Amino acid sequence: MKKIIGFLGSPHVEGNTGIMVREALRGAASRGASTKLVVLNELNAKGCQGCMGCQGNGGHCVVKDDITPLLEDIYEADGVVLGTPVYMWQMTAQLKTLIDRFFCYLDVKGGYTTHLGAGKRTVLVVAQNNANPDSFKVYLESTRDMLGFLGFPVEKLVHAWGVAAPGDVKSQPEPLRAAFEAGAALAR
Ligand SMILES: Cc1cc2nc3c(=O)[nH]c(=O)nc-3n(C[C@H](O)[C@H](O)[C@H](O)COP(=O)(O)O)c2cc1C
Repeated sequence: MKKIIGFLGSPHVEGNTGIMVREALRGAASRGASTKLVVLNELNAKGCQGCMGCQGNGGHCVVKDDITPLLEDIYEADGVVLGTPVYMWQMTAQLKTLIDRFFCYLDVKGGYTTHLGAGKRTVLVVAQNNANPDSFKVYLESTRDMLGFLGFPVEKLVHAWGVAAPGDVKSQPEPLRAAFEAGAALAR
């Protein structure tokens, strides 16, 4: 059975990003995957401490907080869904905190190869208020490149724009359909 983990980077559990991330997990479950949703905002989470502990132990974070076991869960997972609203033209601090901790997967002395082997199949979910889908194009492309470098090749960007209040995305069938399909594809 495939294991898919969703990480929600919005503080709104029932918000636009959360709705889409859950839709992706529903899609994965529809194909028989086991799924788990992590609400990053609810965790006791530190940023990467730059201690290099992970560089001497084969890629395991040594910081003691709620993120550490999740980094181990990712080793076991077949795919991940990373969700964030756009905050100040970028991802939220909640998701960035997790992604900085992905440093443990990098083998720096090995020439910045990844301990994740072939990598983790990844769906990136993004919600934004701006009605222009291209307004953060450069940032989203760079985020995609960065995730690929870390061992999280983004197979699909699920993107909703013109959504402001939590729940607005419910009136947009396209990103909801795209989220479900992307999650289902991850479980293949
Ligand atoms: C602190 C903050 C910063 C934001 N910055 C942006 C922004 O730079 N561009 C944008 O289009 N929307 C921005 N938004 C709007 C959110 O991206 C939008 O409301 C989104 O739908 C929220 O998703 P959620 O319901 O999953 O939390 C911002 C919202 C907040 C609270």
